[in-house]
Amino acid sequence: MHFLRVFVILAVLRSEDAKIMPIPPDLFRRVMSHFATGVTVVTARQPSGKPWGFTVNSFTSVSLSPPLVLFCVDHAAESLAAMSQAEYFAVNFLAASQEVISRRFASRIPGRFEGVDYRESPRGSPLLAGCLGFIECRKIASHLYGDHTIIVGEVLDAEATGGDPLLFYRSAYARISPSPTPSTPPRPGH
Ligand SMILES: Cc1cc2nc3c(=O)[nH]c(=O)nc-3n(C[C@H](O)[C@H](O)[C@H](O)COP(=O)(O)O)c2cc1C
Repeated sequence: MHFLRVFVILAVLRSEDAKIMPIPPDLFRRVMSHFATGVTVVTARQPSGKPWGFTVNSFTSVSLSPPLVLFCVDHAAESLAAMSQAEYFAVNFLAASQEVISRRFASRIPGRFEGVDYRESPRGSPLLAGCLGFIECRKIASHLYGDHTIIVGEVLDAEATGGDPLLFYRSAYARISPSPTPSTPPRPGH
């Protein structure tokens, strides 16, 4: 009788354990790939003076006042060292025509900036030509969680010119297609 009670308690505890286990990485990756994002290149000037940049879609805004943003860096990426050393960084929003730029800055080729048109901000952050816009930030915090580090920045400068964005959806590049539903006509005075 005592043995049976212990067995039942253990079985209940095991099922409770199973309920609070996180989902496996493959399932997480597959489901998250259904969440469409824009594509950015995060850039910074290294202490050596050379520009650094890598493709990022984990970018989001955090706070309006003060204006804060974040992105995540993989601990396996060389970019982690560059971003850890950076005082300032820029987030360049890629246009639909810049898939080649995204691929270049997601690859491990040396000299990613070779042949890429960019200018430097007064604080030295590389700003890529042809983007829809950029924000420039001062890095204010970094937090280690799991296999990524979250970098938080306070926005010091921002500019947007508009155009069609490059998207990433289900592990592939995508573009916006017009909605089949006609848009609501604007109300008078708006
Ligand atoms: C669309 C796209 C989005 C990406 N987003 C991120 C990201 O948010 N964080 C990250 O660490 N790597 C991201 N990567 C991967 C990096 O761009 C790439 O692995 C990295 O730059 C490899 O070079 P590194 O080791 O020199 O950093 C992304 C790649 C692609 C194609």
